[in-house]
Amino acid sequence: MPANNKPLIAANWKMYKTSGEARGFVSELAKQLQQAPELAQQADLLLCAQSPLLPIVKEALKQHGLPVQVGAQTMESHEEGAYTGEVSPKLLADLGIDAVILGHSERRQYYAETDQGVNAKTKAALQHGLLPIVCVGESLEQREAGETDAHVRSQVQAALEGISQADYVKLVFAYEPIWAIGTGKTCEAPEANRVCQLIKDITGAETRVLYGGSMKPGNAGELMATATIDGGLIGGASLNVDDYLAIARTGINEPANV
Ligand code: PGA
Repeated sequence: MPANNKPLIAANWKMYKTSGEARGFVSELAKQLQQAPELAQQADLLLCAQSPLLPIVKEALKQHGLPVQVGAQTMESHEEGAYTGEVSPKLLADLGIDAVILGHSERRQYYAETDQGVNAKTKAALQHGLLPIVCVGESLEQREAGETDAHVRSQVQAALEGISQADYVKLVFAYEPIWAIGTGKTCEAPEANRVCQLIKDITGAETRVLYGGSMKPGNAGELMATATIDGGLIGGASLNVDDYLAIARTGINEPANV
């Protein structure tokens, strides 16, 4: 992680948690952050939840006075219209939501999300002042075929199509090798760092790049100690406060290697 940047510790709760469980998480978070306020000061904490939970989580964070941001996990690119079941970027902004995960591999795989769609959504997020967290990453087949770099490069370039370089600092990429998501297999830190550097070489800007894929308290330190990884997008290990904050702690404790 670059020495002057705060790590971004983004929880991706996926399709987990009821309203009661989400409120319980925030109460526990408040309790633990009271003991360790430096975690919220020295790291950017973000909770990405299912859309109906967003105002609930936001309200709970406000009640506890926690400086923690809230993000959606997907949205439409259109502002409004006849898109039954979709979530509007205008509504997210109206609700005071801070960020949105775009192009997660589960969205690409199960909901036919395309590079073009991710590009349109990234532009819409920027227009509405939401921080886009754009996910990219290769499948196991692509990695074994030696196609990792070409695939990641094409996903990053497609996401950035038509966006001015001045705006690259307003978005975040998450490198999430698909074979590492929810599998317990983590990409080795030097390799994750290499691919994250590839992304930074393409943007040529101070774009933050996160690593995601089975990040846990036991491996987060090594990953975030690399020169280019600016934080994590954390699925399974973000569902409980102990692991989530343990990861944040490793993020603030690891000085950059290079
Ligand atoms: P995981 O998920 O940490 O459970 O592997 C990461 C993600 O899908 O964002």
